[in-house]
Amino acid sequence: MRKKIVAGNWKMNKNLDEAKALVSEVVNMVRDEITGEVDVVLCPPAVYLTTLRQYIPTEVRMALGAQNCHEKESGAYTGEVSALMLKSIGVQYVILGHSERRQHFGETNAQLAEKVNRVLEYFMYPIFCCGESLDQRENGDYVGFVKSQLTESLFHLSPEQFSKVVIAYEPIWAIGTGLTASAGQAQDMHFELRQHIASKYGDEIAQDTTILYGGSANEKNAADLFAQPDVDGGLIGGASLKSREFTNIVKARQ
Ligand code: G3P
Repeated sequence: MRKKIVAGNWKMNKNLDEAKALVSEVVNMVRDEITGEVDVVLCPPAVYLTTLRQYIPTEVRMALGAQNCHEKESGAYTGEVSALMLKSIGVQYVILGHSERRQHFGETNAQLAEKVNRVLEYFMYPIFCCGESLDQRENGDYVGFVKSQLTESLFHLSPEQFSKVVIAYEPIWAIGTGLTASAGQAQDMHFELRQHIASKYGDEIAQDTTILYGGSANEKNAADLFAQPDVDGGLIGGASLKSREFTNIVKARQ
């Protein structure tokens, strides 16, 4: 079933008091203002997840997500967090393969395939990030490149497993730059990815796959982006750190 999702990727931001205040504000705004069928996911830094879970009443349609997890079950990986640990504290979604992790931590498609496996094994939803650089968009087969990220990290999955995956298309040149992809650019890539998914898993699963857009999405451009037939929601960075703007983006999706 294709879900409408707006997820906030806080990245490495907010101290604990600021995080508590932000979650409380978003919870109140979502409870009071959001009446439509949209899933809201908050992805704070991992150290805050246990605390912030206590600020989300069960009656509010909101889930917690993590920004990463290790690909191994457990072991001598100092500083890392496993899928089991995230599941044990009530995390439902896990962002995987964000371009910042690929860039700064050298994450590979093969490594991400293992991370996806771990997240699915613990019955959580991977939010799998893909996207091209500016150089690739200007000079190369950027569509083929983004498709290859799905092929190499996801296409080993069974149809049942794949049906649990959320895709997030985040053109790297739009992340944190204020240079948002146009609604048409987003739609074009989302359509290509949905076709690519259909080539592997068939039309039904492809049509049921949630594909989010990320990259300088904000309260001003969200409605145009979400009006596109293959844009099912957003993975929001900077704008998710502001409760009013993030809620306005959720409103645009409902
Ligand atoms: O994961 C979402 C993030 O990469 C987008 O960041 O600040 O461009 O919305 P931003």
